[in-house]
Amino acid sequence: MTNAQKWMSAFLALFLILFIIGRVTKKDEHVPHMMDENYVSQSSQQEKQELDGLSLVKQNGCLTCHGQELEGTKMAPAIVSLKENWSRDGLINYLRNPSSYSGDKRFQEYKLKYKNIVMPSYGNIDVKDLGKMADYLLTK
Ligand code: HEC
Repeated sequence: MTNAQKWMSAFLALFLILFIIGRVTKKDEHVPHMMDENYVSQSSQQEKQELDGLSLVKQNGCLTCHGQELEGTKMAPAIVSLKENWSRDGLINYLRNPSSYSGDKRFQEYKLKYKNIVMPSYGNIDVKDLGKMADYLLTK
């Protein structure tokens, strides 16, 4: 082999290697696509794990004041038969801003009965979650 031929074969070999590397990295590009699919199924699993009304009521500490069965405690009234006084939207509004209802007769009585306890405002909770809690509570 002449020197020129040696250089030629060296270049050919280099091209071949680059070509192979190109193919290999192309295959690698498919991996993120597969991961995307996994990602989608992971997020739909997360949706399934979204909390239901009862879990949200527990998680937000409602039972601490209102009782394990919502039956009321020394700290807070029972929150059963809410249907008598609340629509779904009304209840959501109440949870977001309980103090704005303090003028109502029922709440004036609550104020005397549960003197030092204040129903917290849950305006920081996602409205969708408040809706789930309202739906759950209105079945009780
Ligand atoms: C710190 C104790 C406390 C916690 C925690 C609490 N509440 Fe209350 N809640 C009260 C008190 C006290 C009242 C009585 C009204 C008032 O004082 O404003 C009340 C009133 C209510 C009422 C109105 C009842 C009626 O007769 O219409 C509802 C509904 C209610 N709470 C739901 C909830 C929900 C849902 C949660 C959880 C997201 C919760 N509360 C968490 C203390 C609490």
